[in-house]
Amino acid sequence: MQKTPPDIARVLLSRETIQARVDEIAAEIEKDYEKRENLYLVGILKGAFIFLADLTRRLRIPHIVDFMAVSSYGKTTSSSGAVRILMDLRESIEERHVLIVEDIVDTGNTLSYLHHTLNERRPASLQTCVLLKKEREQAGVPIDYLGFEIPDVWVVGYGLDFADTHRTLPYIAELKPETYRDTL
Ligand code: PRP
Repeated sequence: MQKTPPDIARVLLSRETIQARVDEIAAEIEKDYEKRENLYLVGILKGAFIFLADLTRRLRIPHIVDFMAVSSYGKTTSSSGAVRILMDLRESIEERHVLIVEDIVDTGNTLSYLHHTLNERRPASLQTCVLLKKEREQAGVPIDYLGFEIPDVWVVGYGLDFADTHRTLPYIAELKPETYRDTL
């Protein structure tokens, strides 16, 4: 059992709560995709790696896992919201049923960009599965499977980080504001 780090303010979602919701999401996806072939899960690095690992192991329908890494510039309202691909998919998604798997939608810029970009590659279908969505104004992003809506605070754990720390916490927690105040 890991000790609670001192910069954690409170746990928002326990390990049990997350795992139960991942079970439900996997069951929904199985039901929706059981008659389609060529399910292609696209995990967005780094944040989605733990959610994706749990999700893929629960899916009892054939599917392939691939990854993309993107970087976004700035999360403030004044930023351009530009997104850049750091690592692309290994294979073509043409004629495949693509499901983007993301850990969190904050401004919505990343998912909006990914949805637009992957749609241009002519998949058979394109949907999105997001574990967390912040309660704030967002770019028009379609979310087909959502885990939880959370307050607009900095969250870590279960893949999400602060300066690449805390990703392996089994729960999702709010970071103390004084920890990140100077990074905004
Ligand atoms: C996070 C998260 C999403 C994105 C969401 O990634 O994993 O990809 O931000 O933010 P948005 O809705 O405002 O675009 P981050 O850039 O922190 O990289 P990481 O996943 O590698 O930690």
